[in-house]
Amino acid sequence: MNRTTRRTFIAGGAAMAVAAAVPSARAEDVGLGALATRSGRFFGSALTSEAIRRGGDYLRLLGEECSVWVPEWELKWGALVKERTEAPNFRPVDSILSAAREGGKRVRGHTLVWHEHLPDWVAKLGTAGDWDRFVVPHIRQVAERYRDEIFQWDVVNEAIEPFDDSPDLMRQTPFYRMLGPDYVAEAFRLAHEAAPTARLYLNDYGLCYADGAQERRRKGVLRLLERLLSQGVPVHGFGSQGHLDIRSTFNDRVFRDFVETLAGMGLELAITELDVREADDAAGLPRVERQERAAAEVEKVLAVALDNPALTGVVTWGLADSESWLRKTRPIPDNQGLPYDDQLRPTPMRRTLARLFAGAAKRHE
Ligand code: G3I
Repeated sequence: MNRTTRRTFIAGGAAMAVAAAVPSARAEDVGLGALATRSGRFFGSALTSEAIRRGGDYLRLLGEECSVWVPEWELKWGALVKERTEAPNFRPVDSILSAAREGGKRVRGHTLVWHEHLPDWVAKLGTAGDWDRFVVPHIRQVAERYRDEIFQWDVVNEAIEPFDDSPDLMRQTPFYRMLGPDYVAEAFRLAHEAAPTARLYLNDYGLCYADGAQERRRKGVLRLLERLLSQGVPVHGFGSQGHLDIRSTFNDRVFRDFVETLAGMGLELAITELDVREADDAAGLPRVERQERAAAEVEKVLAVALDNPALTGVVTWGLADSESWLRKTRPIPDNQGLPYDDQLRPTPMRRTLARLFAGAAKRHE
């Protein structure tokens, strides 16, 4: 079977077993999801319901490379509901779940409680009564609806914000206003009641680098997780988003200590939104050099994370640069930060991911 046939054949979920059963296949010929599966982990990508509608080569690539899909925005409260009186619109999410079932993909849920992408009227809430009247039904309804389809949830996203000057380093959000810091514990308890078999994660960003602000973020995350675990809250894992930045300073020991501390708490770990923001002067460099730099940045972080059996998987935030949020909201219009470029050609990062997964110590459930 030549490379193209194998890559095409891998597109379907069933082929995942074939790829995994072909140990002699060269790493570059086996999908990243299949390589991750061999190490007892998953590899996936965020995708949108628009990508499902569009179909074509990008969807085929998502099928070939991923064992897990994550709805990029469709599960967020503000995408499900606009007006207070309306019922949630689950159709965009359901289109992703239906395609995932057909392709043999597992779906990771993102996210039940987040201070962004909220319906306007939710952002204005602030009492314990609001929590009972609106947040409880929201968490219950969404988690229950997908209880048998979403295997891992970002229950609460971005709960830490040192610059909010809160003594507990927690972000001052409408949810914090409603219940204080205990909103996190309540959200996890509700999610566990509604989806008892799902693995429940706290998710946050700005945790991989050695600077002072990220050190405070790591401190805030660990303090929150310690409190949740001491209260017997059903938190199973932590998602480090992994929005990497070439301009930041990475220190292997610092990040390794953080990963080992999380694992030492008995938590699973996932890298949940991996991509690379280039340096501001990148535009003037040769494209291949830019892509090599991005691949090297990913290797720094994943070499540490994949060393730890607590790591359950890696999700990139999009699979191709043309789909990246970084193109919409960052000053580099042609940012090179994902495993595939604008023409859906593999970048050095794809080769790096394949090599790292192929060489990773096997994780036992
Ligand atoms: O909500 C509308 C929907 O009603 C409409 O049908 C659809 C049509 O395309 O657009 C939707 O709007 C935008 C959506 O992306 C789809 O493009 C939202 O206005 C826009 O805010 C949303 O942006 C997403 C953002 O989260 C907010 O949800 C980005 O794509 C997504 O990459 C970004 O992802 C976040 C993670 O959730 C958390 N970590 C940071 C990461 C990057 O900001």
